[in-house]
Amino acid sequence: MSLLECQKIEVTAAKPYPVFLGAPLEALGEYLHSQFKELEHILIITNPVIAKLYAERLQKGLMDYRFDFLFVPSGESEKSLDRLSQLTTAALRCGADRHTLVIALGGGVIGDLAGFFASVFMRGIRLIQVPTTLLAQVDSSLGGKVAVNHPIGKNIIGAFYPPLAVWTDFTTLDSLPWEEVENGLAESIKHALIDDLDLFEFFERQEESLKQRNPLIWREMVVRSSSVKVRIVSQDEREQGVRALLNLGHSFGHALETEMNYRGVTHGQGVSIGLVAAAHLANAKGQMTLAEVDRIKLLLNSYGLPIKISEISMEGQDPQVLLQLMKADKKNHGGRKILILPQGIGQAVVSKECTDPEILDAWKQVL
Ligand code: NAD
Ligand code: GLY
Repeated sequence: MSLLECQKIEVTAAKPYPVFLGAPLEALGEYLHSQFKELEHILIITNPVIAKLYAERLQKGLMDYRFDFLFVPSGESEKSLDRLSQLTTAALRCGADRHTLVIALGGGVIGDLAGFFASVFMRGIRLIQVPTTLLAQVDSSLGGKVAVNHPIGKNIIGAFYPPLAVWTDFTTLDSLPWEEVENGLAESIKHALIDDLDLFEFFERQEESLKQRNPLIWREMVVRSSSVKVRIVSQDEREQGVRALLNLGHSFGHALETEMNYRGVTHGQGVSIGLVAAAHLANAKGQMTLAEVDRIKLLLNSYGLPIKISEISMEGQDPQVLLQLMKADKKNHGGRKILILPQGIGQAVVSKECTDPEILDAWKQVL
């Protein structure tokens, strides 16, 4: 795919930035030349798996610059202050300074870690996000949230640090294992539920083509799903209002992931079950028909995503424990649980009115 076929959308936040969809890795250098006259040094932060697949293509365009690769092993545990400190040491050894530009080449882990590094290194240096997982392309690279984890909680130490640009090359998804695809699909289906009935119907219609990774259909899915996120974060960069809707399914999903100690459940599976629980709760509140709940379940299942906990765990989870775990949710306010609920398909609302017995019932529906 050439640079000419690439599509540009813009995040219109306090500091607007472009998102290039379908932009070849090799062409990033050309873009940097056109935009940044004073640029000399680039740090590419990535992991060895991604580097093996894509470093050569990326560096083709960067030959006029002095660039260094900083490698981080794969895994969520790398989003840590320890790793941040090690990156800082390595960056200083490479002669990085305030004018260095960081390229975050990878999935959400690299994007969040390298993004947070860029936000604090010498009080902030330039950042370009180059997302290589579906989740990163449709979700984590968009909206400027960057963070590392604290032993007590995920993404606790972080910042809003918008990149100068997001450079999305769809072809990097060709090498993504299906389990990782599912994580992105769960978020994409969530986007459809929150804001785009047409996208939901697209997922229903295009199941076979998406599973076979038909490039044109994949492209359309990534473009439409990223556009939902861009639309939402453009309205509310700092999550004072509408951006909270992006947490649909996550209060339930996080509680389940925590209860299972992040073992035997992927984030996408947690979100999928969380979406179903939220749909049941919306039904109990009269915001959604049972036919709509069934439609959501059918769609998730058709992409291999679970709709009940028993599909992924033999443990017999206790709904009371899951309910208690929801107390730790970052959205809660003054002891009151704040949940995002779908309103039909293609719309969602923030609900402060859910009682514990109602939430418990929703958990029972997905056991
Ligand atoms: P990830 O970054 O761990 O990537 C998943 C795996 O895929 C890794 O093992 C990686 O090496 C591999 N990989 C990456 N690109 C590949 C490719 N093209 N081909 C083959 N393998 C590839 O996981 P993720 O799902 O992308 O991101 C999860 C992270 O994103 C979490 O830490 C989560 O907190 C964060 N997140 C952040 C935001 C945000 O707004 N900042 C939003 C959602 C999620
Ligand atoms: N993934 C939630 C957000 O970016 O706000």
